[in-house]
Amino acid sequence: MAVAIDPRSRLIVALDVPDVERARALVTELGDSVSFYKLGMEIVYGGGLDLARRLVGEGKQVFLDLKLHDIATTVERATAQVARLGATFLTVHAYPQTLAAAVAGRTGTPLKILGVTVMTSYDNSDLAAAGYIAGVNEMVERRARQTLAAGADGIILSAAEAAQLRALLGPDLLLVTPGIRPAGADADDQKRIVTPADAIRAGADYLVVGRPVTAAADPRRAAVAIVDDIVQAATDAPSPAS
Ligand code: C5P
Repeated sequence: MAVAIDPRSRLIVALDVPDVERARALVTELGDSVSFYKLGMEIVYGGGLDLARRLVGEGKQVFLDLKLHDIATTVERATAQVARLGATFLTVHAYPQTLAAAVAGRTGTPLKILGVTVMTSYDNSDLAAAGYIAGVNEMVERRARQTLAAGADGIILSAAEAAQLRALLGPDLLLVTPGIRPAGADADDQKRIVTPADAIRAGADYLVVGRPVTAAADPRRAAVAIVDDIVQAATDAPSPAS
């Protein structure tokens, strides 16, 4: 059954910084304004797994954005390690074998598996160049359905696609959306940006935000403003997924 998510934990700050010291300083500065952090490959390969363990120990939620994709045994064992570490979310590429292996690897733990459908930096011609016949929309929908069928928990997608996917697939899939920009913020290299409130209204469960917080003159203030927007929008549109 769908359970509402605490609006304050729906902001996930992407710790896209080159070293653990900078990440640590940012976490300290953000204090209790942020409860959920995403650690991607850059920081993880730079010593970030210890940081992830420490964050979990301090009561924060951790999203390891490792985008696993390998033979099933390797994915299953790697996922079990991530579950042992205490992470809340882990990404894997949304291929049926990989999803099934990750679901097996997290058995008996609270770790949620998120499928990466199609990178938002890919368009139809990139898929064709990689040998796929399907275009982006068809592929995103197919992989979202396969994520559900495998017993995984959610997908990463642009908030611009959230309303359509939510309508197609119902309330049981967690929708986690990057490409979020508060009104008036710099888009940076994101192509399809959506404000925090609009993303929540479109059906997103969690918002991944990097530079609008990490590169802000006052990161804590920026995070508090985004959480306020989420809380306001969530009052009108409670999260449909659990
Ligand atoms: O700084 P910004 O808010 O653009 O950061 C967005 C974060 O979400 C980055 O960590 C980026 O790698 C991640 N992401 C994304 N688009 C995807 C998948 C992940 O921007 N399709």
